[in-house]
Amino acid sequence: MVYRYQDELQVAVRAAQEAGHLIKDKISCHTVTESKSCVSDLVTEVDRQAEEIILQAISSHFPAHSIVGEEQQGDRPLVPADILTWYVDPLDGTTNFVFGLQFCCVSIALAHQGVPVLGVIHDPFRQETYTAVRGGGAKLNGRPFTVDKSVSCMEHSLLVTGYPGNIKKRPRLYQVNLKRVIDSCSNLRALGSAALELAYVACGRLTGFWEVSLRPWDVAAGMVLVEEAGGQVSNLAGQSLYLDEYVDIVASNGLIHQEFLDCLAWKDEGDEG
Ligand code: IPD
Ligand code: CA
Ligand code: CA
Repeated sequence: MVYRYQDELQVAVRAAQEAGHLIKDKISCHTVTESKSCVSDLVTEVDRQAEEIILQAISSHFPAHSIVGEEQQGDRPLVPADILTWYVDPLDGTTNFVFGLQFCCVSIALAHQGVPVLGVIHDPFRQETYTAVRGGGAKLNGRPFTVDKSVSCMEHSLLVTGYPGNIKKRPRLYQVNLKRVIDSCSNLRALGSAALELAYVACGRLTGFWEVSLRPWDVAAGMVLVEEAGGQVSNLAGQSLYLDEYVDIVASNGLIHQEFLDCLAWKDEGDEG
């Protein structure tokens, strides 16, 4: 069967790998670290150069498509009315990158009217390229993979979450029942790259992921990967997730999804536990 978006996939993989070379080369010798929305929301010259590589590749091959790049948003809407929009996070995990932690990636997605249809996540430190096109399954370096269906309850699950870089959004972290999640799962990680964490849920290295106040470029590619690998993606209320300016996401192997949502659900202060 021939799936759609094969030209787009090829261009995205090549651009992600080229940007990945730069990231790998520069991890211990980048020169500029600046803050964006607040002191802990970091950007380096490598984020900008990597984005330039990707935007150049996409716009030269698909001049009619819209592109939302994290570092070059301008005043454009984040979910344009255009039919096909690319979402580019040139370096997801900038804080890890700045501190020399080799857990970061390039994330590129194509969305059709707000629904991601193609996702590429490239980890330059492990030379792992995750790809998925809606309806065509998910692949790691060309080999099909699925979520881990051997875990069917929270008790045996390895979960992962993240903390918003923007300090103003951090209070939203506590709108989920963190204690109940920690008490219910096997263990909880925070690895510092939402896109790569989603790829890890997709390929079965982790069972579930949630984070609040992410941006569309953080999640768009990972959403396609998880769903094409047989997992489930939703908002905190369990409803279908659409790309928006800010996104609250829950992703899992599907089997634990309802129990995961129940654990995350906010309880009134009067409730025990
Ligand atoms: C960040 C990472 C991190 C998540 C933050 C994001 P960036 O993206 O995905 O894991 O917790 O909320 O902002 O800034 O490194 O591209
Ligand atoms: Ca990001
Ligand atoms: Ca980024």
